[in-house]
Amino acid sequence: MDVLKRLKITIYSEFLDEAYKLAVEEKEIPEWLKPEFLKELNDDWGILEKNIDIALGALDQVVRNDDLVLLAKILYYILKIKGSDFDKCFKQLTLPDVSGDDEANIGYNCVSLFPTLAFARSACEFMISRGFDEKMTISSMKGIDECFSASITKKGYPSFNAYFAWTVYHIDARLVMFDTLQFQWVPVCSHPIRVYKNKDGQIKTFMDGVKIHRSGFLLNSAGCDDEEGSFEATVCETDEYYEGHIVNAETHLVEKELTRLSKSEWTQVMKPGEPSIDIHIPKGAKIDYETCQAEFNRAREIFSKTFPEYDFKIFTISTWMLAPELPNILKPDSNILNFQKMFNTYPLHGKGVGVFGFVFNILAASLDEIDYDTLSEDTSLMRGIKELYKSGGFIHEYGGHFLF
Ligand SMILES: CC(C)(COP(=O)(O)OP(=O)(O)OC[C@H]1O[C@@H](n2cnc3c(N)ncnc32)[C@H](O)[C@@H]1OP(=O)(O)O)[C@@H](O)C(=O)NCCC(=O)NCCS
Repeated sequence: MDVLKRLKITIYSEFLDEAYKLAVEEKEIPEWLKPEFLKELNDDWGILEKNIDIALGALDQVVRNDDLVLLAKILYYILKIKGSDFDKCFKQLTLPDVSGDDEANIGYNCVSLFPTLAFARSACEFMISRGFDEKMTISSMKGIDECFSASITKKGYPSFNAYFAWTVYHIDARLVMFDTLQFQWVPVCSHPIRVYKNKDGQIKTFMDGVKIHRSGFLLNSAGCDDEEGSFEATVCETDEYYEGHIVNAETHLVEKELTRLSKSEWTQVMKPGEPSIDIHIPKGAKIDYETCQAEFNRAREIFSKTFPEYDFKIFTISTWMLAPELPNILKPDSNILNFQKMFNTYPLHGKGVGVFGFVFNILAASLDEIDYDTLSEDTSLMRGIKELYKSGGFIHEYGGHFLF
């Protein structure tokens, strides 16, 4: 496909050929690539409140460039053909990214915003039809604008493309913004865990379906590439017991020795592939105990009503904020450390890069792109992380869960 070559991008999607055909056949500029569409969307739902002017400027540049119009249409049709579960549209995707705030670049760097917004209205209508109130629906969909702002801050020039893959969850109406936390309803949980509970309410976690490095981290996570001594974590179930590799409740690492849980004492409450509610922490969120518990309880109530067809089992989170290195960096009364106590924590895959986006505003694909010496030192967290990485350590990505 010449247009992809000319734009120096790749799209791997099973829907690409069909989408390309539809995009080429469509000779006119579609409604969703017109300024009136954006203005009306914003007037009706306030979705682009912060960045409407930048969006209109970007749209003006896109429609002057035939390649960008074609790319926008290809992305649009890939999303449209899939119809839902938009996150499964792309196996791999790189979009244009031209550094610098030259006016012509803005079209390249923001081209994916417009196919995203093409689906925003129907996502709002879907949320309302499911019983979410208007305020919650609007603040959920405004997440697209928040991503736009975050991208502009992190890149240092008007851009959106780095957030396209994430915002498909918005237009799939998966991400719901509460007062301070954001929740994602997940029909098929991908966390590689099984969760057990006994009659005293004790919780234990086995890893399931992943290879574990001898250190207890997941194989191929930061600093854990060498296979020697690694092992496969699976769970064996018989009539009498479950047996598997447990997550140590103190170190949060996976044990090599097998642990057996008798079925007379332990019940399995969750296995991979069951529905869950994933928690996301927006920048500046209030994460004290009372606020979080109130939001979790509201989430239990709202998601049970809005998606009664799913039997949500647990809340999950994937984040740098659960890293056990943080108690060595932060003061004991830190909100992040108190937040850690709310979760049963286990290691996940991660290359130690995620934290740089959330703490230093750096969007990097790998640690090679980061010069530790130039990292800001404005807060105790920044200073501690900078020192940790300079001495060869990492902030790993962890998962956390608790019962729904
Ligand atoms: C969630 C969040 C609001 C918590 O911040 P908080 O309530 O200030 O947390 P703490 O009380 O633990 O902060 C302790 C110290 O770390 C600093 N800190 C906390 N989060 C920080 C961040 N994201 N960037 C830089 N410094 C941060 C605080 O300023 C404080 O520094 P000080 O000791 O010099 O005063 C904050 O981390 C944030 O906005 N994060 C971005 C979103 C995010 O990471 N989400 C998770 C995605 S996986």
